[in-house]
Amino acid sequence: MQYSRRKFITRSASVLSIAAANNLIIKHTLANVVYGAADGIARLHWNENPYGPSKKAIESMIESTYQGAYYPDHLIGILKSMIAEKHDIETNQIAISSGSTQVLSNLSQIMTRTNPMLGMELGWDTHLLSAEASGGKVIRQPNGINLEINLNELELKAKKDVSAVSIVNPNNPTGTILNSKRLTESVIRMSKKALVIVDEAYNEITNDSDKNTMIGLVKSGHNVAVSRTFSKIYGLAGQRIGYIISQPEVIQSIIKNGTGHFSVSLTGLAGAISSYNDQAFLNYSKSKIIEAREMINDAVASNGLSVLPSQTNFVFVNIGDLNANEYRDQMKQHGILIQGQYGSFKNWSRVSMGKIEDIQRYVDALPKVLDALGN
Ligand SMILES: Cc1ncc(COP(=O)(O)O)c(C=O)c1O
Repeated sequence: MQYSRRKFITRSASVLSIAAANNLIIKHTLANVVYGAADGIARLHWNENPYGPSKKAIESMIESTYQGAYYPDHLIGILKSMIAEKHDIETNQIAISSGSTQVLSNLSQIMTRTNPMLGMELGWDTHLLSAEASGGKVIRQPNGINLEINLNELELKAKKDVSAVSIVNPNNPTGTILNSKRLTESVIRMSKKALVIVDEAYNEITNDSDKNTMIGLVKSGHNVAVSRTFSKIYGLAGQRIGYIISQPEVIQSIIKNGTGHFSVSLTGLAGAISSYNDQAFLNYSKSKIIEAREMINDAVASNGLSVLPSQTNFVFVNIGDLNANEYRDQMKQHGILIQGQYGSFKNWSRVSMGKIEDIQRYVDALPKVLDALGN
């Protein structure tokens, strides 16, 4: 009895010490993790919204973690109903996805199984690259003289045997937006021959989000798909929630091919649901983005450079004769992260909006960087 109790105590002590050691390891590991922006670094390279997540999202995300043992299908239903109500569509016209990247990649892979897809030379293209990696073919349309999406040319190519046309509006990295009337007419014509996929990741940041969206075309039965994300204005990039709106048969095909019901987390959904209609938070974020954009535009102009007119949370700066990679590397010396060269566009540099103090750091560093590069 004595012996076994001692044995029990010894064993318990060693179990406890293993647990304590594990705990230490866990704490130690997490202590070294930088979840988001590292101290002293201005993170202006990924078009995030550092004012998010909203308070409401944080509260429900924390609460949801205690229920992490359960699959989140009922929350998918809630989020779909909210989206359907807002746009006056049916829930079978929506697929929820792990960020919009997942559903866009999935759909692009499906579409390129038959005919090539049409995309832009300069535009956000992770989904097109994934279609190519899966053996699909993508035709890339050169951008216009002001780096705009050339709808006339796109329409001509869409008349040939293409399965889908990918449009990013506003575009990334240019930040520019197409005229909504012109785009609507063009999308209607193209959708008679191919599925038109419009990526609206930045729609909520534009001057008139209702006017600029193509969701109305889905509603009126056109062969169109519109993607949105919680990664941008909602400030939930780390939670990976996005969605696509299209005709029920397109959505069915996406779900059958693995995106929709089981590709998102309970916590992410809790955050998305809580912030979807949080207009006060969205207005606040938008006002900060506009304030930051004005600071960048002024600084760029007073240093003799120019920008494309942006309706997003990033600005494409024309850095004249300078090289975008060298410009990025110089900014990094000041602890500021921005993007380097896009494709063959050597003299263009994308900077994302961030906290106002980080934008101020970019503004202050700008003349020093230009000096260092001999400008
Ligand atoms: C135009 C555009 N679409 C989609 C995405 C993907 O975002 P997410 O997968 O986080 O929704 C991005 C990310 O920067 C983007 O710029």
